[in-house]
Amino acid sequence: MQDILKQLNDKRARARVGGGAKRVEGQHAKGKLTARERIEVLLDEGSFEEWDMFVEHRSTDFGMAEQKVPGDGVVTGWGTINGRVVFVFSQDFTVFGGSLSEPHAEKICKIMDQAMKVGAPVIGLNDSGGARIQEGVASLAGYADVFQRNVLASGVIPQISVIMGPCAGGAVYSPAMTDFIFMVKDSSYMFVTGPDVVKTVTHETVTHEELGGAITHTAKSGVADLAFENDVEALLQTRRFFDFLPESNRVKPPVRPTQDSPDRLSPSLDTLIPANPNKPYDMKELILKVVDDADFFEVAPAFAGNIIVGFARIEGSTVGIVANQPMVLAGCLDIDSARKAARFVRFCDCFNIPIVTFVDVPGFLPGTAQEYGAIIKHGAKLLFAYAEATVPKVTVITRKAYGGAYDVMSSKHLRGDVNYAWPTAEIAVMGPKGAVEIIFRAEAGDARKLEAKTEEYRQKFANPFVAASRGFLDDVILPSATRPRIARSLAMLREKKLENPWKRHANIPL
Ligand code: HXC
Repeated sequence: MQDILKQLNDKRARARVGGGAKRVEGQHAKGKLTARERIEVLLDEGSFEEWDMFVEHRSTDFGMAEQKVPGDGVVTGWGTINGRVVFVFSQDFTVFGGSLSEPHAEKICKIMDQAMKVGAPVIGLNDSGGARIQEGVASLAGYADVFQRNVLASGVIPQISVIMGPCAGGAVYSPAMTDFIFMVKDSSYMFVTGPDVVKTVTHETVTHEELGGAITHTAKSGVADLAFENDVEALLQTRRFFDFLPESNRVKPPVRPTQDSPDRLSPSLDTLIPANPNKPYDMKELILKVVDDADFFEVAPAFAGNIIVGFARIEGSTVGIVANQPMVLAGCLDIDSARKAARFVRFCDCFNIPIVTFVDVPGFLPGTAQEYGAIIKHGAKLLFAYAEATVPKVTVITRKAYGGAYDVMSSKHLRGDVNYAWPTAEIAVMGPKGAVEIIFRAEAGDARKLEAKTEEYRQKFANPFVAASRGFLDDVILPSATRPRIARSLAMLREKKLENPWKRHANIPL
């Protein structure tokens, strides 16, 4: 018995050293933690149950038969985050660069299959050179097996990818199909082909960082949602993020008790809107004043800042917040903001998370760049997402709600459950100046007449009462009472039931 126990201990010790002390040193020298150290930070202390520690690759070409490392470059298993079950895989860059072999893929698939059975999220800590080059098509098959599971799990369990090293080729496509992607600054990269291939094909000279670093993907491409300073910050923030999410589409998000009363008024909101309708104000101030304990987890803050999305809680329950930001591009909708918000709305709808929408939108951004870039299709994504969402939807129009953007932003007409406006709301086809310039084009030379007509239009439409008189708004509320009114609405909506007609699936504009 002693011998067998020793053998077990030796095998475990062998697996734990991964690619060896020298490579671990190299990993640390780059400011990166090892695969196992990352799991320790991510999960509750002592909660990790490792699976498949003794799995080895089966390839023999290129001297691989002599190079076997137990675990084969990925640590997999499950544990808890603040007591709730989560499945994890963490790629070990010290073993063949974290590259994906057939058994490496099988390990990932195994925990994904189990996560689907029990209804628990999967978090992938990615640090991989892509397909294991020595294995050829077996490795490609392994990737495809993971991709297929990503797709089947989409909308059933939350999937989060944390990119913590170079991720090339196949290593980016699995994360791309998960719900959220977080990156680490200066040590993580995502690209389909690296700088050398780019140079050969397009003759562009570009660094790893410029091509696929955390700033590139969180600010330019929008592929990733958040960039963190280092591994520890990324993992601790992933823990915080996880607490907002339900375990699966079968259950509601967790409730976290709070001392923050749902009846709390915010008197300063009564003066948030500037007297001049063209002056911006910070929508984040409203969000922070309305949600529990001013705790707002913003997603993708560096991309399409004209729309704000993220998670918060009201009366302890998770809500998804979507809000136009007048500080950036006057809060208009454009290609990037529509894409960003549409994906967020769909995530909330997948996972029973009510959506609270704050509206101050002057319309869609005009211009050739937008039209050639297919704003029609991208804008339609957000419209489609709101229209198909069946979770509780509460909307507050703070100021402008003009044109198609009024319809899009969770209006009553798209099955908004409770639609409020502040007394400062302006709801019309377009702003008074633009409207008058079109209706009274013949009088373009008569500045005084146009001014008078503009004022008339403003009086008539730049208020919430026309919409309220049609029942398109349920009430006009005091800004200071926004939190209590939203909290009461969400409480009323807790058992909301609404189903879309049977279909194989919808055909969202892509
Ligand atoms: C096998 C690999 C590997 C791979 C790295 N290694 N990538 N082994 N298969 N794909 C090994 C290296 O041989 C090395 O082994 C160790 O990992 C560390 O690699 P380095 O190159 O020394 O590290 P670094 O300088 O940090 O560069 C990391 C890297 C680079 C940027 C990831 O290694 C690289 O470019 N790798 C190849 C990336 C790639 O083209 N992958 C295939 C993509 S195609 P030793 O023994 O020296 O420690 C693909 C197809 C799937 O994925 C498509 C599905 C849609």
